[in-house]
Amino acid sequence: MPYPTPASPLSPTRPGAEWWRTAVIYQIYPRSFADASGDGIGDLPGITSRLGSLVDLGVDAIWLSPFQRSPQKDAGYDVADYCDVDPLFGTLDDFDDMLAKAHAGGIRVIIDLVPNHSSDQHVWFQEALASVPGSAARARYVFRDGKGPDGAEPPNNWESVFGGPAWTRTTDADGEPGQWYLHLFDSSQPDFDWSNPVVHEEFIRILRFWLDRGVDGFRVDVAHGLVKADGLPDYHPPADADSMGGEEENVPYWGQPGVHDIYREWNRVLAEYDGDRALVAEAWRPTEDETALWVRSDEMQQAFNFPYLLTEWDAAELREVISESLRAFGAVGAPSTWVLSNHDVIRHATRYALTAPLPQGHGIGPKSPGQPIPALGLRRARAATTLMLALPGSAYVYQGEELGLPEVVELDDDVRQDPTWFRTGGERYGRDGCRVPIPWSSDAPGYGFSPTGESWLPQPAVWGDLARDAQEGDPASTLSLYRTLLATRRAHGLGAGELEWLDAGDDTVAFRNGDVIVVANTGDAPVRLPAGEVLVSSADILDGMLPADSACWIAA
Ligand code: NOJ
Repeated sequence: MPYPTPASPLSPTRPGAEWWRTAVIYQIYPRSFADASGDGIGDLPGITSRLGSLVDLGVDAIWLSPFQRSPQKDAGYDVADYCDVDPLFGTLDDFDDMLAKAHAGGIRVIIDLVPNHSSDQHVWFQEALASVPGSAARARYVFRDGKGPDGAEPPNNWESVFGGPAWTRTTDADGEPGQWYLHLFDSSQPDFDWSNPVVHEEFIRILRFWLDRGVDGFRVDVAHGLVKADGLPDYHPPADADSMGGEEENVPYWGQPGVHDIYREWNRVLAEYDGDRALVAEAWRPTEDETALWVRSDEMQQAFNFPYLLTEWDAAELREVISESLRAFGAVGAPSTWVLSNHDVIRHATRYALTAPLPQGHGIGPKSPGQPIPALGLRRARAATTLMLALPGSAYVYQGEELGLPEVVELDDDVRQDPTWFRTGGERYGRDGCRVPIPWSSDAPGYGFSPTGESWLPQPAVWGDLARDAQEGDPASTLSLYRTLLATRRAHGLGAGELEWLDAGDDTVAFRNGDVIVVANTGDAPVRLPAGEVLVSSADILDGMLPADSACWIAA
């Protein structure tokens, strides 16, 4: 395997300088990263076989989306057994092997934890269905009687994030309609009842299971959703609501104050382990200040910066969100994080070039309004990443963005798999377009994703040109840009630096971080750069002028 094996990997970090404060963390979506078995679905041995490419890219850590046992109704975010690997992805031994080799290569490993809901195939939910109302088995989930004389109406009006009602009615043993259960997501994903201490105990057991195996942390799914408001009151969202609640206040199932007690409990569990383990919140909140509540010193270590991800390619808005992020996270002693793409959002190489806005979570398909302008998208994506990787704090990179992959818009209806697509009767395309297996080799079957050429979602014909091997050695490629950015970020300690704003024009974001000056131009006219050696640039600089939709770093 072509990666170095330092004698003493992953030494502990100093308080205040823990690895997660500055790390670049690469998100692996296991089913789409690398398939060793040849069944068209990526797996753990596939990840292990490609670790060398991540060492080479220069990332500090990887985050793996779920690989635990699951019927895969929501691509693994429906977990049936939290302490085992789904056979699709391999075995626990495969996991241990991957973890050991990642650590040997100096890469930390964060895994996904899904505590808001389980799969309906989880043994607890099966027991709940087989038990009577009011039983201890039912009390681990949110079961309620329906409204109306026959209980035929759902207990309240909540809607699933994926569309349709958030309640499904059960059938009793005698065949009669029974109680309803809550599922903020698909009907195959029943919500746990976090007011029940048994649920707390079970998740502490699960945390310890993986901590004992040596994971460096957990990305906590729907970390703003576990606690629901007392009495489960009705809620009427605005028509254009972001489905995960990122733009709404006072939603009875998002951001309830009681949720923080859970993470204080988990913080204490992690503190028993060596090695600076970390909890990362997926908490879609409307403001930076609210997001920062998840990373107070006795809770989690990081929270995804979704207000940053949702910001348009606009200098004034970017300056504002960067300032706000550094202020709000800094106020609680946490690093800011930065993220532009993940497995739930339209890839930023497409999102930045939409010709009409699309609500977050709805996805994009062939019939959507606002079809993107691909070349503009890639140009802005390269610029946006150049800006992001210069910011102090920790940054996330989603697999494939280092290749400049766009969202796959042209997927046929009959290959789509996201529950959003099915639950909205095709009204929302959902997230399949950012989950297409990534290309490694331009000439190999399946572009090297799988030895058989199988791929659970079809890869576009043009992806041969974007394959990793086609970009290797080309200094103008997006892969080379990412490598240079990551190496330069590390060499200049930008993750641990401080940002000082520089005066610039309306369409320019300009700041100094240590001995690096960063300039991004979101306007449509070139801007003059300060004198100095150009360390890295997302586009060619002509006569000291930074062209439109580009960004660069200059030695101060
Ligand atoms: C957020 C995850 O990122 C998403 O992919 C998943 O569908 C939902 N949570 C439900 O677990």
